[in-house]
Amino acid sequence: MKIIFIGPPGSGKGTQAKRLAGQFAIPHISTGDMLREAVADGTSLGAQAAPIMAAGALVPDDLMVGIIDERLKKGDAAKGFILDGFPRTVVQAEKLETIVGNGKADLRVLQLLVPDDAIVRRIALRRTCVNCGAIYHLENNPPAIDDVCDRCGAEVIARPDDTEEAVRKRLESFHRQTVPVATYYKSKSILREVDGVGPLDVVFERIEKSLA
Ligand code: AP5
Repeated sequence: MKIIFIGPPGSGKGTQAKRLAGQFAIPHISTGDMLREAVADGTSLGAQAAPIMAAGALVPDDLMVGIIDERLKKGDAAKGFILDGFPRTVVQAEKLETIVGNGKADLRVLQLLVPDDAIVRRIALRRTCVNCGAIYHLENNPPAIDDVCDRCGAEVIARPDDTEEAVRKRLESFHRQTVPVATYYKSKSILREVDGVGPLDVVFERIEKSLA
């Protein structure tokens, strides 16, 4: 099972991909999480990526392709994976084909459809665990104890790139650079569009159905 999640910021890619990865016992590979780890670890990649992410822009393609190429070589990705946040440009999609093959037979691309106005509200109320990356929402899915992760007990915070200005920029780059990726996969007849509006469980059921 090789799955790619495409969707605007805050569409629920991370939330749904984590659950699906648990169900299929395959790795959830989030380029956003990998970059945030690099920032937290103070690596040179993190130093390069931090200001770009904070501004809501995209990290250069060559860096991202290198990261994914390395990650997909690890043994746990041999039986399948869920890519969350990659590819985000047509260049990345083309490079991915050289890494995994054109994948027509086993690559499934899911596009989560959520309108821009719903995104802004979701992101304003999102909170993320600084340690394990668990995702919460203050209204729909809050942690049991305020600001404390249910899973690992670490602090739960608003992401630094969840400012209104950065979210607007991320949405703009999604429409300009990532919607063409969906079109690219549509032309290969491997795109599955899923309505991402509704309770988390309902959206998950739609995803399961679209994969069946
Ligand atoms: P990344 O971390 O990938 O951010 P993103 O794509 O902007 O997506 P988000 O993590 O914001 O949202 P999500 O869709 O995962 O939604 P979530 O499940 O959290 O990337 C961050 C940055 O890294 C980029 O801006 C870029 O700079 C860089 N980067 C990463 N990959 C790159 C690449 N390939 N190339 C170049 N640069 C790259 O849900 C959001 C909220 O909504 C949560 O609070 C959740 O609880 C809630 N929610 C989820 N589902 C529902 C629902 N059905 N109803 C109500 N609320 C819901």
